[in-house]
Amino acid sequence: MTTRTLPLSVVVLAAGRGTRMKSRLPKVLQLLAGKPLLGHVLDLSATIEADQTVIVYGHGGDAVKSTFTDSALKWAEQADQLGTGHAVQQAMPQIADDHRVLILCGDVPLLTTATVERLLTETPDDAVGVLTVKAPDPAGYGRIVRDASGNVTAIVEQKDAMPEQIAIDEINSGVFVVPAAPLKQWLDQLKPQNAQGEYYLTDIVGLAVEHGVVVHGVMGDDMEEISGINDRVQLAEAECAFQRRAVHALMLDGVQVADPHRVDIRGNVTCGQDVFLDVNTVLTGDVTLGDGVHIGPNCVITDSEIGAETELFPNCVVEQSRIGAHCLIGPYARLRPANELADRTKVGNFVELKKSQIGEGSKVNHLTYVGDSIVGRDVNIGAGTITCNYDGANKHQTIINDGAFIGSGVELVAPVEVGAGATIGAGSTIAKSAPSEQLTLERARQRSIEGWTRPVKNKR
Ligand code: UD1
Ligand code: CA
Repeated sequence: MTTRTLPLSVVVLAAGRGTRMKSRLPKVLQLLAGKPLLGHVLDLSATIEADQTVIVYGHGGDAVKSTFTDSALKWAEQADQLGTGHAVQQAMPQIADDHRVLILCGDVPLLTTATVERLLTETPDDAVGVLTVKAPDPAGYGRIVRDASGNVTAIVEQKDAMPEQIAIDEINSGVFVVPAAPLKQWLDQLKPQNAQGEYYLTDIVGLAVEHGVVVHGVMGDDMEEISGINDRVQLAEAECAFQRRAVHALMLDGVQVADPHRVDIRGNVTCGQDVFLDVNTVLTGDVTLGDGVHIGPNCVITDSEIGAETELFPNCVVEQSRIGAHCLIGPYARLRPANELADRTKVGNFVELKKSQIGEGSKVNHLTYVGDSIVGRDVNIGAGTITCNYDGANKHQTIINDGAFIGSGVELVAPVEVGAGATIGAGSTIAKSAPSEQLTLERARQRSIEGWTRPVKNKR
């Protein structure tokens, strides 16, 4: 960030109804890459290190406010949506006269820090700056009217435009930077005398010019960045654009993806060197992947950390878990929240883990449920073993100490502890703690009945 001479307030316009979404949710709460649209705009205002951020809210206000609980955020209610100028006016009582005001829209989530910084640095402190772009199809946007020296003299809405103005292809992005003191005066002078009967923010341009203040049109080069979201088609398009950017950033950071169109990033992903993501990887929340991690097809990883050289085979679901280095997970493993797997563990096919620690080198390879458990090092848990952690009212812990061997099909009825080096015979239901180094088994004696014959089907 370049050093600023004046403090900066950000005003985010977020009072619009969003009728075209046809949703119960207010528009700015619709999710893009797993985060509300408004959240993306607030991230931007955080990266440019604004001194304060005031959100103008209206429709669905309580839902919007309760989604963004950061106490540093300021709120201004716009009870009736009388236009963009009226919206900004609602925020002004909270903004000191010596601030510069950056106006953003809550439904324009792809705007980049670099573009906003350009607008802020290319606009002198005492001037007005508006971010514009040359639109291949300018329909619906306000048109930028410039004079012979290139200064902006007016912004004309499509509905109010003369035919020669309709032909202008430079459009208003809706992003402005304006000194606070004159902005307050100009907003007070707005009149709703236009085709839509609204208080247009864009009319401050004419007022600035009247008062001898220069209006700089800073032209961005990317229509996508300034596109607003009005309906679900645009939301899906923005999602594609967001994903393309996020995946490109990962690739340029050294991550190999099998197909950039088939990886979804819905959060903050940190990757080491030579990470590989196969098709249909979905990474949500805060995900950290160590060097050489290999994620097989169709894995969904949420708020988790995976250590170096660990491999996830296809179709694993990992949530709020920490997996060590050199582990082999899946295919079809499900890690529910709060697991900690040490290095070199193996979790195999159709295994479900919940709130469990698995020690170094231990194996849980087939068709098993381990919940609320502490498993030591070099433990082998046989196929079909279940920790019975729930008695219908409470959850209980299972402790399996180092080097234990649990045969196949064992039920461990918690609370229960298996000693170090113990062996549990296959098919046992273990409800009492099993001592170290011994074989414990609980199994009805096998018998065979001589002379027994199979029933035969009755004749009709
Ligand atoms: C506005 C601009 C237009 C520009 C376009 C860019 C005006 C008069 N026109 O048009 O020049 O090309 O944005 O997308 O400013 N909002 C409120 N309260 C209101 C009205 C709007 O909070 O009373 C918010 C909306 O939620 C939205 C933003 O302001 O986030 C822009 O409003 P919108 O109705 O989309 O403006 P446009 O008519 O598209
Ligand atoms: Ca719009």
